[in-house]
Amino acid sequence: MKNNIFLTGFMGCGKTSVGRSLAQRLGWSFVDLDQVIVDRAGLSIKEIFASQGEQAFRALETAALVEVASRPSQVVSTGGGAVIASENRAAMRASGRIVNLTASVETIAARVTGDSERPLLAADASVERISSMLEGRERFYADADLRIDTTGKTVEAVASEVLDSL
Ligand code: S3P
Repeated sequence: MKNNIFLTGFMGCGKTSVGRSLAQRLGWSFVDLDQVIVDRAGLSIKEIFASQGEQAFRALETAALVEVASRPSQVVSTGGGAVIASENRAAMRASGRIVNLTASVETIAARVTGDSERPLLAADASVERISSMLEGRERFYADADLRIDTTGKTVEAVASEVLDSL
């Protein structure tokens, strides 16, 4: 089994910032899965959603995840919806540990407000919309080795908590 650390969680829970910090501390590579998809497609996430639709984005996401998961010693920050497909969760499980970052709905709303790069929240990033998406995804986020609430914590504090708990 590989030793990777996969960070999962809703948009705005700090996966990318915490992932960078963790990778630096471990001396491992940091991989932002959304960035891998963007580099390969030559399009932004927003452009992929607009021109090809969410289903096509999910196929690109799975392909990128499966490939990344074949390599060791990486901290991988996944997109907020990457946990939904059971195939993706199986690929992460087989390749390391899954750390789910959470935050209060209010914190998430504050962090994602005004971000036009997140197509799923472009039309509506209200507390109600975020709560309803979180509810639908909760059982997938719960499928993790470790869950950490990032509300009110610094990136460094969360990274320390991950390292202490794994
Ligand atoms: C998504 C989250 C985004 C990105 C895409 C879809 C989602 O990633 O993959 O917009 O379904 O929650 P971040 O969680 O890094 O914003």
